[in-house]
Amino acid sequence: MDSRAMIELDRKPFKERLAFQYSMYLKEVEAGYMVGRQGFGPVDRRMKYKDLNSDEFNEVLVFGSNSYLGMSNDPYVKRKVIEAVESYGIGTGGSPAFSGYTKQHRELELRLAKLAEHDDAVLLPGGYMANLCWVTGLMNRNDVIVYDKNSHASVINAIKMAGVPFYTFDPEDIDGLEPIFERIKSRAKPGTQIFSTVEGVRSTDGLIIDLRRYIEICKRHDIITILDDAHGIGTVGKTGRGTLEHLDLLGQVDLRMSTCSKAIGAQGAFVSGSKEHIFLLRNFSYPYLFTSGLAQPTIAAISAALDVMEREPERIERLHENVRYMQDRLEQQGMRIIRGESGIIPVFFGEDGVVRKLNKELYRRGLFANIMEYPMVPPGLERLRLSVMSTHTREEIDTAVDMIASTAREMGYL
Ligand SMILES: Cc1ncc(COP(=O)(O)O)c(C=O)c1O
Repeated sequence: MDSRAMIELDRKPFKERLAFQYSMYLKEVEAGYMVGRQGFGPVDRRMKYKDLNSDEFNEVLVFGSNSYLGMSNDPYVKRKVIEAVESYGIGTGGSPAFSGYTKQHRELELRLAKLAEHDDAVLLPGGYMANLCWVTGLMNRNDVIVYDKNSHASVINAIKMAGVPFYTFDPEDIDGLEPIFERIKSRAKPGTQIFSTVEGVRSTDGLIIDLRRYIEICKRHDIITILDDAHGIGTVGKTGRGTLEHLDLLGQVDLRMSTCSKAIGAQGAFVSGSKEHIFLLRNFSYPYLFTSGLAQPTIAAISAALDVMEREPERIERLHENVRYMQDRLEQQGMRIIRGESGIIPVFFGEDGVVRKLNKELYRRGLFANIMEYPMVPPGLERLRLSVMSTHTREEIDTAVDMIASTAREMGYL
């Protein structure tokens, strides 16, 4: 379905939407598109997958996992998880306000706060929940938020949940923030607090915006800033502490969210900030208070992955070498890419629908990658999104690039 049709569909009554969307699903299945798949074995550079609607298995080279540092199948991390299960068991059996908060939770929170150069942190079951946590925990209808127009769906949903008045800004045009803040201030009641959020490493293209200028403008206007660094932790910064370390700005935003489901290779996320802000989240934010505390194996996995990151910073260097190598190889083959600084490489092939067809064929030939289509990206900017891992070999990168180039050429997209 093209982007215009999706906008139209959104305006239809529920039963019409449901009937239409289900019929689209059946058509996709019939046309052989993957509308759900299950993987077998650990998430790593090579995996076996099965389409949910067929009995065929497919061995694929994986360039679509956000486990950028290969942590999700790391022997040390796995051993630490097994030890933790033996010592502490599995689930916490309650929210952090009841039984779901242990010594291990506290130690990890303090370690993550230190990593972010903040006073304190709270752990959440995932990045989605972490974004719900800070939006709904800090803001209400009397405040205003100015958010990056490319923000993750969780931020946008959270803003709707909190009912907080909002404006969007274009992260490509940081100076455009000044007139937005001035307009809000000229109309707002005295005492209205303005918040602003932006992504660190951008999930759609791996780029990093001019965060220094962003922080400077926000500070000048007394704005509370929150950074979503889901894709920055573990992929940028000399020691993997993320976008702020990369730009020498650690501790310079008021709050920061990073997920542990990507480069950290596990699950869960944290929000860090000043002791007052974190106090508010810990005691008043429903997405923190009313969900069970992270399970012990997850706590152990995150802690062990942080050990590996500290001990082996060369993994991050290796990731960057792999990314640069793959970017060069894709360009040599005539492909249009964006050269970001993290593990994400977007590749563009033109009109609506093209990347979907290409990706289907790539999967059939043995390459697993993701695509981004509207509404994740603006109409016309659909892309193949390759995620590089530090553990990929040069041969695997060459195989993937050659497969994309030859398939795109055969299909007339290159
Ligand atoms: C920018 C951004 N924020 C938040 C999230 C949510 O993180 P999680 O998968 O841990 O829920 C994602 C995940 O895709 C993301 O890309």
